[in-house]
Amino acid sequence: MEFYIAHRVAAEGDDPLLALFLFEGDGLLGREAAALDEALGGLVTRVRKSGEFPGKARETCVLHNAAAKGPRRVLLVGLGREADFAAEGFRRAAGAAGLAARATRAGEMSAVLPVTDRVPREELASALVEGVALATYEFRRHKTGEGAEEKGPVARVTVVEEGREGRVAIEKGFALGRTLAEAAIWARDVGNTPGNEGTPTFLANRAKEIAEESGMKLTVLERADMEVEGMGGVLGVARGTLEPPKFIVLEHNPGRTDLPCIALVGKGITFDSGGISIKPAENMHEMKFDKCGGVAVLATMRAAGRLRLPIRLVGIVPATENLPSGTAYKPGDVVRSLGGITIEVLNTDAEGRMLLVDGISYAKRYKPKCIVDLATLTGACQVALGDAASGLFATDEALAEALQKAAGKSGERVWRMPLYPDYTDQIRSDVADFKNTGGRSAGACTAAALLQAHAEGTPWAHLDIAGTAWSNKDRDYLRKGATGVGPRTLLRWLMEQAGK
Ligand code: BES
Ligand code: MN
Ligand code: ZN
Repeated sequence: MEFYIAHRVAAEGDDPLLALFLFEGDGLLGREAAALDEALGGLVTRVRKSGEFPGKARETCVLHNAAAKGPRRVLLVGLGREADFAAEGFRRAAGAAGLAARATRAGEMSAVLPVTDRVPREELASALVEGVALATYEFRRHKTGEGAEEKGPVARVTVVEEGREGRVAIEKGFALGRTLAEAAIWARDVGNTPGNEGTPTFLANRAKEIAEESGMKLTVLERADMEVEGMGGVLGVARGTLEPPKFIVLEHNPGRTDLPCIALVGKGITFDSGGISIKPAENMHEMKFDKCGGVAVLATMRAAGRLRLPIRLVGIVPATENLPSGTAYKPGDVVRSLGGITIEVLNTDAEGRMLLVDGISYAKRYKPKCIVDLATLTGACQVALGDAASGLFATDEALAEALQKAAGKSGERVWRMPLYPDYTDQIRSDVADFKNTGGRSAGACTAAALLQAHAEGTPWAHLDIAGTAWSNKDRDYLRKGATGVGPRTLLRWLMEQAGK
């Protein structure tokens, strides 16, 4: 999907489909909108007054133009009340426009950006790209025959505006939007890959492509290497599977010790059956999405490399399946993490933290200024926040605020969760330093507490994306399946860190 700007009068073109974004109410139309209304013989005004199109957020209405001149169709897209308008609202409206455009089979879409002071043009342009590209995403890799084709793909989106003043801002917004949408789409494709294909080896192969493309350093530790290192957490989880586990380390700008270093760690469970503490069958298939934290890290690394971000960035993805077998780790086992902390396994289904603690300890070797991890870590976080926000835990205020700011811009909500010492006390073990669960209460917080104990000494933040990594329904510009959550927020944050 390509994005362009055309400097011309929208009402005078013969675009197959022109999207016109309108605020709610029957207030005066802007200049471009009024001209379009006139070209359509007053149809826009009539439809607005009739109550058929009040302009509620994400509402759409296709008007066909029977006149000899002017755009062949005008797609009205509601933005809701201007007083409530923000970039995320436009991203969602753009998503609705993209889906409506596809339904018309026009094959392309032109668009007049809304006239408003509430959101800068650059952000509008970026949100247009993100909204349209993400909403029209489909994962069809395993479809055959007719299902393999997209019906009415929107190949081209052109912003039409007469004046050239906004050009630079719009081009910049397009560039940002392309980068962010592409990263999220890559994350969706890898996230949606089923467990039989999307193995730890598959993730390592994707990491290899990223490394080769951007000249990053790649280290993949095999089971034997992890044994030498003493990664008792990952190895404990990996005991049950025959699928080779991989501890993936990507380094962007590896030699540049002059640059500040940031480490990202992602949970790469390519399938979580729960292990010996096996999960109920009902929704177990969804646990192919348990790698989405790791995938978010890989997607972010890939985009950071393409952008040549001037920071030293380390991406760490411990990857394995969590399966029961005759060799699987068991409730009651005690393992020693890479950080030298002993952990009693009370529930083999609390496996994500077992991997992450080793990832976090490994990250510390780079002496990063901060560590951020992402994980589909706890059902408890999903219970607490639903699909409306990811849980954000942080030991550093500036880091938390920077991530919150980036999330505010990306539209991927995060909600700050507490790290009270009570949670650390709750996971103390009778026989080891810690246990891997603290019981039912505060499940998201006690999981975070074990990570915190390993991050100790380095500013650290943790995003629990259990409720946000995949969706069971189409929702705005999210499609059913992996949402690609993470990279759009992390990249905005990293660009800010890199002063770009
Ligand atoms: N991957 C799951 C968490 C999860 C569950 C994410 C449902 C999204 C939806 C994780 O490994 C897990 O199983 N956690 C357990 C921990 C418990 C045993 C302490 C959970 O949340 O039930
Ligand atoms: Mn689990
Ligand atoms: Zn899991």
